[in-house]
Amino acid sequence: MKRIALLLVLVKLVVVTHAQHPIDPYHYTIQKTFRGKNGAVVSAHPLASQVGVMILKKGGNAVDAAIATQLALAVVYPNAGNIGGGGFFVGHLKEGKNITIDYREKAPGKAHRDMYLKQDGSPDLEKSQNGHLAAGVPGTVAGLFASHKFARLPFKTLIQPAIDLAEKGFVITQAEANALNARKAIFEKYSTRPTAFVRDIPWKGGDTLVQKELAQTLIRIRDKGQKGFYEGETARMIVEEMQRGNGIISYDDLKAYQAVERTPSTFKYKEYDLVTMPLPSSGGVLLPMMMKMTERFPLSSYGYMSPKAVQLMVEIERLAYADRAKYLGDEDFYKVPVKQLLSDKYITERLKLYQSDTAGNSTLIHEGVVEGESEETTHLSVLDKDGNAVSVTTTLNNSYGSFTVVGGAGFILNDEMDDFSVKPGVPNMYGAVGGEANAIAPGKRMLSSMTPTIVLKGGKPYIVVGTPGGTTITTNVYMTLMNLLEFNLSAYDAVNKPRFHMQWLPDQVDIEKNFPEELKAALEKMGYKTRIRGAFGRTELIKVLPDGTMEAVGDMRGDDAAEGW
Ligand code: DON
Repeated sequence: MKRIALLLVLVKLVVVTHAQHPIDPYHYTIQKTFRGKNGAVVSAHPLASQVGVMILKKGGNAVDAAIATQLALAVVYPNAGNIGGGGFFVGHLKEGKNITIDYREKAPGKAHRDMYLKQDGSPDLEKSQNGHLAAGVPGTVAGLFASHKFARLPFKTLIQPAIDLAEKGFVITQAEANALNARKAIFEKYSTRPTAFVRDIPWKGGDTLVQKELAQTLIRIRDKGQKGFYEGETARMIVEEMQRGNGIISYDDLKAYQAVERTPSTFKYKEYDLVTMPLPSSGGVLLPMMMKMTERFPLSSYGYMSPKAVQLMVEIERLAYADRAKYLGDEDFYKVPVKQLLSDKYITERLKLYQSDTAGNSTLIHEGVVEGESEETTHLSVLDKDGNAVSVTTTLNNSYGSFTVVGGAGFILNDEMDDFSVKPGVPNMYGAVGGEANAIAPGKRMLSSMTPTIVLKGGKPYIVVGTPGGTTITTNVYMTLMNLLEFNLSAYDAVNKPRFHMQWLPDQVDIEKNFPEELKAALEKMGYKTRIRGAFGRTELIKVLPDGTMEAVGDMRGDDAAEGW
């Protein structure tokens, strides 16, 4: 078991056995891997993972643990954990039922297609990415209550750890301190009231972050349920914040928000059954598309990270992302030809464009012809001893979302509106382009890349996986699955080995800093343009070993932590 000790300035270092009772928010370690049989939780923060395990120990199932972990993340991981954003829930219940819940943000009623265009027609990305106007109507709280019908424990039990963490505070890591310090000015610019995240002296690792206003908001949710957020005092505070900052979310928008239980995107890959999030997650179309293409090749025989294997995966990613840009958006508003895109015939047609040993060209490759009907986010994976599995990805979009903290309510609003296509062909913050399918319309959900996924083997959970990372999410999940299912990497390596990503436009292969030099050279020789960029996502993985042991891995790229018992 690998443990990274936090250098806590104010506290003595103690050896902590994981998930002790009670959780100690002032002394904790980051545990990167866990092996055990009773249950596992992996999330972006050790305290949130510990909360999840505590709930499992209290008799909660994986759904209870996922709800409590998300609420804890809303406190201890303000970069992305949230009640002011949205997310997707993918679950597999021990009785065999698969569930997907969509609590993606929606465009406010006053939103319109050209709302981020300047007078000269050019896009105003500052407005779609920061501040009040960037926020979609938050979905997370509705999603938590929608998932609660599959849980065992009362909601108040699940929210209490988050309330305590907000009220009493928790010790922040150096990474968190650095992140807050770097965003001081922008928080001040886009929040109209003082916030817990900004103080005069710089934050340092070991300081305690207390969020009294957030605690009160969570208490209102505990006592009044969903209405404690979407109506009454919290809703009033959101609307007043909008009025102070020229935002457009109204009381009616909030009151009308509903999470939606959708039909899961399910597909087969060899002997495995996969369950993932359907639209408005692009992953629900792209992951099956990429895996169906991959299945036509003997990928494992090419060798892990061989030029041949990487070339094939990159070209498959290119083909899939070309279709993303054209066809994918909220199906409640736009007819997306999902069936055709995933048909064997279409996959065969698309693969005719594939050429081995050479770089494709995105200006020559476009979306296919469909016949007939004519970087912040966070992921958590949970598995309990009864075989219930939950995979949740949730987001504010950018790190700390819009930087608008709701005055008096203490939580950050998302900047998810930027995930719409602000203008056809204009890249969003992840370089993704889109068109009509993902144009802004009142009440519409913006297309997402979040791809929380569960792999079943013999009908039982085998892999629970997901990651943040904007458009790299889907390729990251694809790569992690190939690492496990084709190349037999250990769970630890499948998460932590260097990554690559291609998304059609821009026409380049993004690689992580530690991507092997020779492989980079081999790709460039085939004609690829490569670009080194920062870490791709933070993958949270649970894999079940043949004897039933759960192996959980938190990504080394962040403070992510695996806990269990
Ligand atoms: O839903 C989406 O696709 C994006 N809003 C996700 C953003 C994200 O992953 C940022 N994290 N690094």
